[in-house]
Amino acid sequence: MRTPVMAGNWKMYKTARQAGETIRVLAGLVAGVDGVEVVICPPFTALAAAVEAAGGSGVAIGAQDCHWENEGAFTGEVAVPMIADLGCRYCIVGHSERRQFFGETDATVDKKVAAVLAQGLHCIACVGETLAEREAGQTLAVLERQVRGGLSRHLTSPRLVIAYEPVWAIGTGKTATPAQAQKAHAFIRGVAARAADPAAAQAVRILYGGSVKPDNIAALMAQPDVDGGLVGGASLDAASFAKIVRFRG
Ligand code: PGA
Repeated sequence: MRTPVMAGNWKMYKTARQAGETIRVLAGLVAGVDGVEVVICPPFTALAAAVEAAGGSGVAIGAQDCHWENEGAFTGEVAVPMIADLGCRYCIVGHSERRQFFGETDATVDKKVAAVLAQGLHCIACVGETLAEREAGQTLAVLERQVRGGLSRHLTSPRLVIAYEPVWAIGTGKTATPAQAQKAHAFIRGVAARAADPAAAQAVRILYGGSVKPDNIAALMAQPDVDGGLVGGASLDAASFAKIVRFRG
């Protein structure tokens, strides 16, 4: 049994004060929800306030990126021990916006996932094809390359979570259909089985991301290989994200 994970990716939104307020409201709205891991990933500047606001609730806090070294001369970067020290329990790695705008590659994803897992944090590692890749019929090849290139060394970690986020569905309001998501998730699980071992592939949670909303999450979660959501826009509002967390109704 894979416990579902609902993770909010706040991207470059909310100050520390705004983050604290939203998380306090969210914590109240999801209190008593069993069997779902709830995660919010605010900007670095709001992590401390977010951890404080989430204190004692079931809401875990995560960062959106990290450096792969534990410290060093890397101006502007943040190391995983610093993130862990704040009380964060998760870190997103390899988001398509990092790949598109900040030079993230499968090789840097591999190093960052290693750094996150080594500190005992959960890592939400993102994969997904662009629209051009999908239209060229390359979706499965891209997913295989990203999983093998960035994640193969880490697939047996119980703290690795994979997020399948088709780039064309992010922030566009164009969700993958449940069938499209299921096909990609089952394929990723198959790659994981071949790259690591079948038991690890069965255990790893695979989240869907890309225009997840309160009204489409139930159909996505009904798919056998969809184990949760990585939610951008719809996670910024506590009531809307709480509805996603309460996808069972
Ligand atoms: P979205 O973003 O839910 O706003 O499409 C998802 C993501 O980028 O993680």
